Amino acid sequence: MNKKFYITTPIYYPSAEFHIGHCYTTIIADAIARYKRLDGYDVFFQTGTDEHGLKIENKAKEKGVTPKEYVDVIIENAKDLWKNLGISYDFFIRTTDDFHVKKVQEIFKKLYLQGDIYKSEYQGLYCVPCESFWTETQLVEGKCPDCGREVELVTEEAYFFKLSKYQKKLEELYETNPEFIQPVSRKNEMLNNFIKPGLEDLCVSRTSFKWGIPVSFDDKHVIYVWIDALTNYITSLGYPILTPEFEKYWPADLHLVGKEIVRFHTIIWPAILMALNLPLPKQVFGHGWLIIDGGKISKSKGNYKDPREYISAYGVDAVRYFSLREVPFGNDGNFSEEALITRTNADLCNILGNLVSRTIQMGIKYFEGKVFNKNIADDLDNDLIESTYKLKNQIDEKMNELKINEALEDIFDVLRKCNKYIDDTTPWVLAKDENARDRLETVIYNLLDSIRVCAILLQAYIPTTAAKIFDGLKITETSFAAINNKVETYELGLEKPANLFERIKED
Ligand code: ME8
Ligand code: MG
Repeated sequence: MNKKFYITTPIYYPSAEFHIGHCYTTIIADAIARYKRLDGYDVFFQTGTDEHGLKIENKAKEKGVTPKEYVDVIIENAKDLWKNLGISYDFFIRTTDDFHVKKVQEIFKKLYLQGDIYKSEYQGLYCVPCESFWTETQLVEGKCPDCGREVELVTEEAYFFKLSKYQKKLEELYETNPEFIQPVSRKNEMLNNFIKPGLEDLCVSRTSFKWGIPVSFDDKHVIYVWIDALTNYITSLGYPILTPEFEKYWPADLHLVGKEIVRFHTIIWPAILMALNLPLPKQVFGHGWLIIDGGKISKSKGNYKDPREYISAYGVDAVRYFSLREVPFGNDGNFSEEALITRTNADLCNILGNLVSRTIQMGIKYFEGKVFNKNIADDLDNDLIESTYKLKNQIDEKMNELKINEALEDIFDVLRKCNKYIDDTTPWVLAKDENARDRLETVIYNLLDSIRVCAILLQAYIPTTAAKIFDGLKITETSFAAINNKVETYELGLEKPANLFERIKED
C-alpha cells in the first residue's frame, strides 16, 4: 500500500477578498503536497473557508445581502485565485456545506452527552473584528492584542467545552511528542503563556447572533467558531462515520497555520480530539507573517493588492517562487513588489532562465539538437555531476524539516554550478576545435542532465516553469523515481526555445 500524507491549510474567513498572506500558506501547502505526490505518497490536500460568525453577518448586512450571498462571491474569487496559482487541492471544504453542518451538530451533541460540553454563563471581553474573546491580562493597553481596537464586555448564556480537563494530557503530549508543534519556539510559547498558567473552559456557543450552525438540541444557540472550524479537518473525511477515507487519511500529517492560530490548533484542537478519542495530528507548523510596511497584511487594514495583479504582471511562478524562497520558513518576512521583482530577476531570470536557454541553444547550434553522452570526462565534471545526483536526498531532508527556502537554495546552488561549469569548460572555445567535438558534446550533455534533474525537483515549487523545461528538453519521465534513469540522447528540436523569464524592469 502507498504511504499516505494528509496536509491542510487553515480554512480562511471569506470576510473580504483573499490577499497575499492567504496565498503564502496555500502555496507552501501546495508545494509540500506536490512534493509528496511526486515522491509516491497518496496525498490528501485540503483547504477551504470558515464562513460563520458575527463579522460576516455584519458585513453582509452592510451590503444588504444574506451572509451566504456575501461569502459566495468571495469564495468564487478565491477558487479562481487558487486556480491561477496552480493550487492542487484535493478538497475544498466550506463550513456552510450541508454535510459539515450536520456532522458538526452530531459532534457537538456527542460531546454534550458525554459531559465534555456543559451549559453555563459567559462573561468576557470580545473583539468584534477579530472574533476573539480575550482575558484582561491578554489585552494590550486595554485593547485587542491582535488589532489594537476597543473590546466589549459581553455576558450571555453559553455552552462550554471542558478544556481544563485536558491540561495534564496536553502537557504530556508536548513532552512526549516534540514534533507536535513546530517551530520549537512556538511550543515554548504555548506551554509558558497558555498551558502552565492553567487552562480555562472554552465558550463554544453564542446567542447574540444567528449566522452559525445551530446547536441541534437548543437552537437559540449557534456553535461558536472553533468547534465548527477545527472539525473541518475530519468532517471532510466522513467523521463521525468511520469511512474508509477517514481510516486511511486520519490523523493529519501536517496542519500548516499562521502563528496567530497555533494556540487553537495545538491546545483546543488536540483537546477536542482527545475528548472524541481520536488520534492526534502528527504536526502543527506555525509559520510567520508576511509583513507590509512594517505591519501584518490584514483584511481589516486593507493594505494590499489583489494577488492576481502580481500573477498577471510577473507570472504565477514568480509569485510562487517568492513565497517559497524569500523568507526562511517559520519567520516573519517582508513582502513588497520590489522584493518580488528583485528575487525573480536574480534567480528565475538570471540563474535558471538564462542557463536553460543558453544550454538548449548550444545543443541546437553545435549538434542540431541531438545530444548524446560521449563520456569524454574531465575533472571539471565531477563536482557538477555529484552535486546533481545527491540533490534529491538533500532536498528530502530539507522538506522533512520544512526548510523549504533551503531546499530551493540547494537546487539553485546546482543551477549556479551549471553556469560556472559553462564558464570553466568554455564550450565556444571547444566548438572551434574539430578534435574536441566529443568533449563538447559531453559538456552539453552534462548540462542538460543537471537541468533535467533540477527541473524534476522544481516541479513541486514552480510547476509551470518545470513543464516548459520538460518541453524544451523533450522529456516525459518526470517523476522523482525517474531522476536516476539517465536519458541516453537529448533530442531538443530545432526551434529556439522560448525565454522562461523576461527580465523585469526595476524602477
Ligand atoms: O484565522 N502572512 O482565518 P483567516 C502570512 N478562519 N500568512 C497569513 C497572513 C500574513 N500576513 N495573513 C493571513 C482564520 N495568513 C480562521 C482559521 S482554521 C480551522 C480557522 C494566513 O482568514 C495564515 O495561514 O484569518 C493565517 O493563519 C491564516 O491566513 C488566517 O486566515
Ligand atoms: Mg485572522
